[in-house]
Amino acid sequence: MKGVACVILAAGEGKRMKSAYGKVSHHLCGRPIISYVIDAARSLDPEKIVVVVGHDAERVKGAAGGDVEFALQEEQRGSGHAVMQARPLFDGFEGDLLVASGDVPLITGGTLGALLDVHRAAGAACTLLTAVLKDPTGYGRVIRRMKTGAPLKIVEERDADRFEKAVDEINSGIYLFDAPALMGVIDRISPGNRQGEFYLTDAVGILAAEKKRIEAVRAGDPGEVLGVNNRYELARMEGLLQQRIQRRHMLNGVTIVDPGKTYIEGTVEIGRDTVIYPFTVLTGPARIGSDCRVGPFSHVRPGTVIEDGAEVGNFVEVKSSTIGRGTRARHLSYIGDASIGARVNIGAGTITANFDGKRKHRTEIGDGAFIGSGTTLIAPVRVGEGALTGAGSVVLSGRDVPDGGAVVGVPAAPLRKKVVKRARKSKGAR
Ligand code: UD1
Ligand code: CA
Repeated sequence: MKGVACVILAAGEGKRMKSAYGKVSHHLCGRPIISYVIDAARSLDPEKIVVVVGHDAERVKGAAGGDVEFALQEEQRGSGHAVMQARPLFDGFEGDLLVASGDVPLITGGTLGALLDVHRAAGAACTLLTAVLKDPTGYGRVIRRMKTGAPLKIVEERDADRFEKAVDEINSGIYLFDAPALMGVIDRISPGNRQGEFYLTDAVGILAAEKKRIEAVRAGDPGEVLGVNNRYELARMEGLLQQRIQRRHMLNGVTIVDPGKTYIEGTVEIGRDTVIYPFTVLTGPARIGSDCRVGPFSHVRPGTVIEDGAEVGNFVEVKSSTIGRGTRARHLSYIGDASIGARVNIGAGTITANFDGKRKHRTEIGDGAFIGSGTTLIAPVRVGEGALTGAGSVVLSGRDVPDGGAVVGVPAAPLRKKVVKRARKSKGAR
């Protein structure tokens, strides 16, 4: 079977973003827009992926990550011109070429696979992915032949007459081409349009005029092919992606009390029977076990592991830390660079002071420790198993509290044995 390769167009400025940064380097649920398109393309198992960069090229390259090749389009003269810049990298390539805009992040590997199947089965020169939109404004319209219904050409909004504008089937900017067929006509595209650009879409018209076979597949879910062109669309897409991510968790057995008021990045794992309360932000990579309670108003950041049955409550921020089984941090805490054991009570207002102005340091808290309200733990420091800190203690770095020990005050000093006994009694036998 013929091979597949991909070209992802990402050189455009994206003027409508009103940004100094290349459009596809903007983030969506914590990852650059273009990384989603690359992931979807990768599911076709392509021989190579070439990303065409130009505007803000270095940042866009960084956003695209490794494992792809780049072609530089120094001047952005249109999507057709962008493909011309990638052509030398496909010398002698006889297979099928997926061309996709880098700004269509909701596209799935499944849809691309279906597009490839249709394309191959038909032996088409070009197969378009299209969608029928309630409001097609701004998109290129797919004009079909009267008799056969086969795609004839794509007309951009700005070049369309009122009949063409009335067409509600749009070009998604995602196509499969027979590579030799595309490369054979790409030089014939001319910039004779309102924007004075070389439109890739004209290649479709040229192939159709030559009676080459053109197919079109309508996306089952038009939401998948929406492009990001401005920040309003970026926010809307963020919402769609959140729905997708949260739905997956809910179907896996996680309770999300109010999905519209919860934010979860794609790289967060959550175990079943965990409950996520509103106004919680979970960024990843992070892992939350089963039977946990998180929120309301919790902030989980990268590198966090929350083990089974633990609780993280309001205004608790956790970063690069492990929270052991059954441990509770219910109110007003910052937990950064910490390893906290099982069944620990983290009192309200506990802070791990992890940063000395230059470097980050770690805090360790042993199983069953009791950290009193308002404790400040100046890292690096260790609080031993079953140890206790009194409310308001400031435990200095290096002044580890031994297993079973107890400290109080500023700076924290060991408590007398008698007092410890009394304190332990009053806090119960946790
Ligand atoms: C394009 C399509 C339009 C389609 C829409 C779908 C063309 C002419 N039009 O319009 O039919 O409905 O996408 O979202 O292709 N790019 C370059 N170099 C350039 C210009 C663009 O790499 O010189 C890249 C952009 O970075 C972007 C993609 O090509 O990823 C599409 O460009 P954009 O300006 O967003 O085209 P649209 O007007 O959205
Ligand atoms: Ca676009």
